[in-house]
Amino acid sequence: MTDASLMEKIISLCKRRGFIFQGSEIYGGLAGTWDLGHLGGELGNNIKQSWWKKFVSDREDMYGVRAAILMRSEVWEASGHVAGFADPMVECPKCQQRFRADQIETVDGSQYCPEDKSVLGAPRQFNMMFKTQVGAAEDSSATAYLRPETAQGIFVNFKSTLDAYHPKLPFGMAQIGKAFRNEITPRDFVFRSREFEQMEIEYFIKETDWEKYFEHFRVEMTDWMNSVGIDMDKVSELEVSAEDLAHYSKRTIDFEFEYPFGKKELFGLAYRGNFDLTNHKLDYFDEESGERFVPHVIEPSFGVERALLALLLSAYTEDEQNGSASAEGSSETKETRVYLKLKPSIAPTICAVSPLLKNKPELVEKARGVFTLLKKEFGRVAWDDNGNIGKRYRRQDEIGTPWCIVIDFDTLGENPDLLDTVTIRDRDTGTQERVKSSELVSHIKSKLG
Ligand code: GAP
Repeated sequence: MTDASLMEKIISLCKRRGFIFQGSEIYGGLAGTWDLGHLGGELGNNIKQSWWKKFVSDREDMYGVRAAILMRSEVWEASGHVAGFADPMVECPKCQQRFRADQIETVDGSQYCPEDKSVLGAPRQFNMMFKTQVGAAEDSSATAYLRPETAQGIFVNFKSTLDAYHPKLPFGMAQIGKAFRNEITPRDFVFRSREFEQMEIEYFIKETDWEKYFEHFRVEMTDWMNSVGIDMDKVSELEVSAEDLAHYSKRTIDFEFEYPFGKKELFGLAYRGNFDLTNHKLDYFDEESGERFVPHVIEPSFGVERALLALLLSAYTEDEQNGSASAEGSSETKETRVYLKLKPSIAPTICAVSPLLKNKPELVEKARGVFTLLKKEFGRVAWDDNGNIGKRYRRQDEIGTPWCIVIDFDTLGENPDLLDTVTIRDRDTGTQERVKSSELVSHIKSKLG
């Protein structure tokens, strides 16, 4: 499979099966915006919940925050974003299209339009923040910005958090939420969007401890990627060179992922020094030493959509199985099967429940009972009685459902030895086992670990 065809397959699966749709699609789409359908939303929520559990709930030194997205212009002046959050932009004099200068090759000192080959104009800086007006006034005092990073929503709540909880250094603040960037060229599906979600931590420390905590979060980030099922063979670390560091960073490692369109940033880990707290005129009083000082900051930063895309790419698998016209084992023909090998903890649906035939009320009634029981226990359980069993398996494979449970005539006692047992089929191997209905919950729990 070529890289381009893999990307096409992922995009098509996401649309067909209801993971990701183009934003404002029925009006022709809004570039750089994406809407999550039910399954994409479930996958996104599972990613966020697993992140929050590891980095916030399971720790004693983290404080969550949910800051406003609209923030005063003073925040962005102090953070350096008004002056420095810009990409170099070039414009085509003929077709008027704009491109990021650093993504266009320079040949003999000139850059050429990818569309019509005209010589592009000189690069100029384009600020990527979305500016808006708050309230009825239209003067500059009403200017506000949609945050381009969730990090500043954390810094502006540093004082309130100190006052409310009196945490001792080292401690962290964490936030999951939307960020907005007016990217010059949004591209590569959800990889570079204008509206996306971040999961960020600002971890406040004494300056002398920065290397220790930088290393701590480097390991924790790797652990988390592994735990959700990102293919670690496709992840590598890039030490960002001094000239490429963001304006606030003293050291950054990019975790890069081998996407089909190239090796690109997945997540970042930065040592922000005391840049932000100093600029916001915030500090910390250490009761033990009686000293007042400005803490330094380690920042692990994750993009939800990049995690989602990396997970889909890691999970996408094709193999050969029996044809879908009938249930497995009863067909001679082989066909290519597509499945998402997602971890059960992350998969949008843990299991699907089906009656063998949907026009047999006694099967449907029994299956509804099993479905209700599992739904109450696990939540992410689907009812699927569409098409024949083979087709149901293919559909559930394609959306990454780890187990399909079928209620058949043996469940009803056609074979008395199998009364009240159901089949449970494994997505990855296609094998089936029979389990007593009364033991299904504990059986699935043990599989979930
Ligand atoms: N607070 C630090 C910060 O925002 P960043 O490297 O600009 O650093 C952090 O962004 C993460 O946010 C990236 O590693 C990536 O996962 C995600 N991200 C950044 N820009 C994005 C975009 N245009 N579309 C989707 N995700 C993006």
